[in-house]
Amino acid sequence: MLEQFVDRLPIMPVIQPQSFKDQIPFYEVTMKESLLKLHRDLPPTRVWGYNGLFPGPTFQVFRDHPVRVLWKSDLPQKHFLPIDTTVHGANHGAPKVRTVVHLHGGVTPDTSDGYPEAWFTPGFQQVGPYFTNVVYEYPNGQAATNLWYHDHAMGITRLNIYAGLAGMYIVHDEVELSLPLPRGEYEIPLIIQDRSFHDDGSLYYPSEPTPPVEGVDPSVIPDFFGKTNLVNGKVWPYLEVEPRKYRFRILNGANARFYGLSLSNGLPFVQIGTDQGLLEHPVTVPYLLLAPAERADVVIDFSSSAGEEIVMKNDAASPFPQGKKPNPKTTGVVMQFRVKKELASKDQSSVPYVLSNYHVMSEKQANNERSLTLGMRPDQYGREIHLLNDDLWIDPITEKPGLGDTEIWSLVNLSKATHPIHLHLVKFQILDRQPFDGDVYEKEGRIETTGPRVKPDLNERGWKDTVRANPKEITRIIMKFTPYAGLFVWHCHILEHEDYEMMRPYQVVLKGN
Ligand code: C2O
Ligand code: CU
Ligand code: CU
Repeated sequence: MLEQFVDRLPIMPVIQPQSFKDQIPFYEVTMKESLLKLHRDLPPTRVWGYNGLFPGPTFQVFRDHPVRVLWKSDLPQKHFLPIDTTVHGANHGAPKVRTVVHLHGGVTPDTSDGYPEAWFTPGFQQVGPYFTNVVYEYPNGQAATNLWYHDHAMGITRLNIYAGLAGMYIVHDEVELSLPLPRGEYEIPLIIQDRSFHDDGSLYYPSEPTPPVEGVDPSVIPDFFGKTNLVNGKVWPYLEVEPRKYRFRILNGANARFYGLSLSNGLPFVQIGTDQGLLEHPVTVPYLLLAPAERADVVIDFSSSAGEEIVMKNDAASPFPQGKKPNPKTTGVVMQFRVKKELASKDQSSVPYVLSNYHVMSEKQANNERSLTLGMRPDQYGREIHLLNDDLWIDPITEKPGLGDTEIWSLVNLSKATHPIHLHLVKFQILDRQPFDGDVYEKEGRIETTGPRVKPDLNERGWKDTVRANPKEITRIIMKFTPYAGLFVWHCHILEHEDYEMMRPYQVVLKGN
């Protein structure tokens, strides 16, 4: 077993623009293969990273200041992870190495949103059917928050992100900058992921079908759970901190693992922001649950912990919520904070009671409601195939909100696992969750609710772009489809589900058309 807390937590470098065109910063990012040390005792690991880094470099942008990015690929022609050619989009004719970049949580026109079929191959030798432009433009017309960019290529997203194609993208604005929050070296992004390794240091990703089938190998698997946790690309790292407040921008960047985070000495997280921005008021929680793709902006105050070594622990079951609890010695450990540094200067930072002027959306604003099921059925080989509303990716588009429409989506989860549901383009609010009787549904195909609608957790009462839809619950979200018409997607963010049919296109249509 790899020794814990022997590597210092890396901090991803901030990417600088290559040039300015019409005053707009222009970045160039090249996807490259590289060999990186992910742990002191592991031989270097082959990864695919943006600019060869894992995780990729961090973008720091400012609200309403657009940026342009040329995303290109110098990756090899051969994939080093097991591609299942029975999966839509990854079939025999498709090039093995395809990538397309999506800015998760970005309010981005569809031509720059990284549609799964807008992929391209190394050197743009070949492009997918929905390829738009080589240079993407991000308007950044949105509130300060942590976004992330990652691969989204049809049918192989799980493999491309697992290989290393993900990074942080931080939006700032005046409101956030006016707050006395910890910043500079006291503001640190934490990308949490799980990985497994072979003894030679190479990444291990299983390829055996579950249940086993004749003739399909490699196969997509139901979910990937790694044997180690990495933060910012190091296995079980440590961070030396001063006895003062720090701001951590936490992202669950795992394929399928949920993280239920807590600190070994009982220190709480003061959550100040959700996926899509600052909360109205801070929420103090001893425990932080994050599904894949969810983010939490938190402050931890180490001022009463001088001299201590604090472990960030994880207790979320996988699959969530009914699966196995993590091993408290391995997957139950995330990283360590050592409060060993001298206080460099008095901590002037604080967490104000009012963080933003958040407006609660009312159900009355909605002009349309949809009920959408999250289901599962066996495929022709007996493997699990997860579906949104029973439709396949290639089925005709069914979700076509009008530009400017406000809709309520009721996500009816018929399956046994929590699915983190994500919509591109829009931010939403969670209205409530309501349990229903799974047996009645199975026998009679009808929904019989078994309890009242329950408001989301306090730290979910902010703008979100990914929501945990729990089994045998109806999760209602409300959102306004703005500011762009076009072709987007919504999907489960468990990457193994997303790749295997739990993703659908949706279209924001111009009214009157
Ligand atoms: Cu994190 Cu469709 O994306
Ligand atoms: Cu997204
Ligand atoms: Cu799912």
